[in-house]
Amino acid sequence: MKLIAYDEGKRLFVLDNGRFAYTIYVNDAGYLETVYFGASRAEYGDIDCVRGAWESASPHYDVARGVELGYADKFKSDAAPLEISPHGVWDKRGAPVILRGADGAFETDFRYESYRIYAGLPALEGLPHAHGEGVETLELTLRDRAHDALLRLNLSLFADKNVLVKNVEIENVGKEPLRVLRAMSLQLDLPSADYDLVHFCGRWGKERDWCENPVHDGVQEISSNFGRSSADENPFVFLKARGADEAQGEAIGFNLIYSGNFKFRAFVGMYRALHVTYGINDEDFEWLLASGERFTAPQAIIAYSDEGIDAMSAALHRFVHENLNTYQGLGEHRPVLFNSWEGCYFDFDTARILAYIDASHKIGTELFVLDDGWFGARSDDSRGLGDWWVNKEKVDLHKVMAHCKELGMKFGIWFEPEMVDFDSDLFRAHPEYTLGWKEGRTELTLARHQFHLDFACDAVVENIYAQMKAFLEEYHVDYIKWDYNRTVAEHFSNALPPERQGEVYHRLVLGYYRLIGRLTAEYPHIMFEGCASGGGRFDLGTMYYCPQIWCSDESDPAQRMDIQFNTSYGYPLSAIASHVNDSKVAPYRTKAALALFGTYGYEMNPELLTEEEIADLAETAELYKKYHHKVIAEGTLYRLRAPHKCNYMCMQSVSQDKTASLVLFMNKLKEGDRFRFVRLRGLDAEKRYRNDFDGQVHTGEYYMRVGLNFSREWLQEFDCRRVLLTEAK
Ligand code: GLA
Repeated sequence: MKLIAYDEGKRLFVLDNGRFAYTIYVNDAGYLETVYFGASRAEYGDIDCVRGAWESASPHYDVARGVELGYADKFKSDAAPLEISPHGVWDKRGAPVILRGADGAFETDFRYESYRIYAGLPALEGLPHAHGEGVETLELTLRDRAHDALLRLNLSLFADKNVLVKNVEIENVGKEPLRVLRAMSLQLDLPSADYDLVHFCGRWGKERDWCENPVHDGVQEISSNFGRSSADENPFVFLKARGADEAQGEAIGFNLIYSGNFKFRAFVGMYRALHVTYGINDEDFEWLLASGERFTAPQAIIAYSDEGIDAMSAALHRFVHENLNTYQGLGEHRPVLFNSWEGCYFDFDTARILAYIDASHKIGTELFVLDDGWFGARSDDSRGLGDWWVNKEKVDLHKVMAHCKELGMKFGIWFEPEMVDFDSDLFRAHPEYTLGWKEGRTELTLARHQFHLDFACDAVVENIYAQMKAFLEEYHVDYIKWDYNRTVAEHFSNALPPERQGEVYHRLVLGYYRLIGRLTAEYPHIMFEGCASGGGRFDLGTMYYCPQIWCSDESDPAQRMDIQFNTSYGYPLSAIASHVNDSKVAPYRTKAALALFGTYGYEMNPELLTEEEIADLAETAELYKKYHHKVIAEGTLYRLRAPHKCNYMCMQSVSQDKTASLVLFMNKLKEGDRFRFVRLRGLDAEKRYRNDFDGQVHTGEYYMRVGLNFSREWLQEFDCRRVLLTEAK
């Protein structure tokens, strides 16, 4: 199927995959007008549909000829829905790109020049990017009227999912250097502002809280300036048409394949239309572009659904699996993971770890992970970061790994490559490797006693690479947990001249990608898991390398339920690393059910488990091994009750062949006299399914029309039920 076409006569680009469409008109003045964005239609060509009742403006004067320029198109230069708004002229809604020339002028005014349509996606050098089959790209080239610069706007549409990938590249085609002051990956202008804006703010231990507000006049901004995507705001946001919900109505999701500072900005002006720009945060951003150089903005993702929020999420989930993550084991069963952190923190030796391995084996562990504390002088969190050599006096890693092997378990290890403690050999030898380091500085900020390394400097990245490489050559691990436990402050790089300090934030992210990109390429069998003080870098940039990311350090199920549920709006369950820990709020059975709706793993002292707890956990591990890949990792997620909307939560995942489904129900407050009736979704109406909740067999139609009745028993606070439905032949 042809996904993108150009009608030369109408000067109209049509992107249409049969369900979702986007059309762009090249107007008389050379601006790209976004004529239509929405569900696929039978016919296009009505470019007037977004025009207002106003008269045509004549906004330009030809200085050489001394005449006014008239345009046949009745477009309003400060209100027309555009692909790339200009800066410093009529349109004041907020341009996606701002350049400054050698003469200091700010004006930036890109006009259409040419196009190219090709199969596939652009490969972005140095940045994680989308890939895959069944996708076409429209490359539009625009030329700046004010500077010697070209802008390439890429739009890629998938045939089998309503996902559009957008980004821009800016090229200096002149002789003088240019300064890029803003380089947003996308602009999306919609003719209506009747949406609610949903975003996910938070903090350590409370990531991705549901925040919903009506889109209103003026500016709404969701952003991070922490140097990482952050726990404070996640880069995934969505617009939902008024009245839309999980199962019906229009939803438009936005995300960025990026791990650093971002800014999603929605502006509604007097015309009551919605103007969205999204990309790298322009706060303290300035990129010097020498003659002939290019700047590439990260790819932004738009997911469209006119069948409710769940369908938007499903498109994003499939996108991550099929078009983003590069881990070679993505399509395989993910091992049950045991992590040592909450069980013993820094307090371990070889004997203790061996005992943990034995005890964790009884609850189905397939991958044992030794977390923080194995390297340098790391006896607590105030020392050792930056010294990636094994502390052999503390732990005999060869022995530990050999023991895992004997039990048929894989082995993984923790790193925090972008950080350094002041009490470390690395800092003593190279204080100048520290971000913010400069002569005469009297103070530097600390977070968890540590500094950020200057990953904008190649020598620093090389040093950490060499240390990690030496470790990996000696210890053949199967897994790496890549942590990142502070935000960026003093964003100054010793290695860059004054005029390039506006590049530091972005160069830190590029340094991270360079290191993790090199290691994942050299050790493709190693599974990398992202982490940042819990879920502080839970984003699509990291997900390109890491099939799973630690979701939060909060494992109390009452809190965790919200965190996982909300994370699933933008990211697949199989990417949401979740462990059963020893929080006292609920029994192990409950915590295991919740972890099952993520990646499933453990984090406690396994030697303290009772026989009953071991049996419960081992049973869930068995269920995990049998059904997780098919039902959760590759299945379709339905949200039956959102915890931010009612007094209980319920979600369901159904296998692609609809032969099995898992349902997770969790009560919140005790309300014994209320019905808890939940209608399931996504089953085959005619198939018969046995459920392990009351042991009965019903048709799919019954479950979807009548539902499961969770109110037959007196539910206590945070009581949880996990239900498996399997086809009964
Ligand atoms: C962070 C992570 C934890 C653990 C510790 C180790 O806080 O989120 O899971 O790895 O670091 O120091």
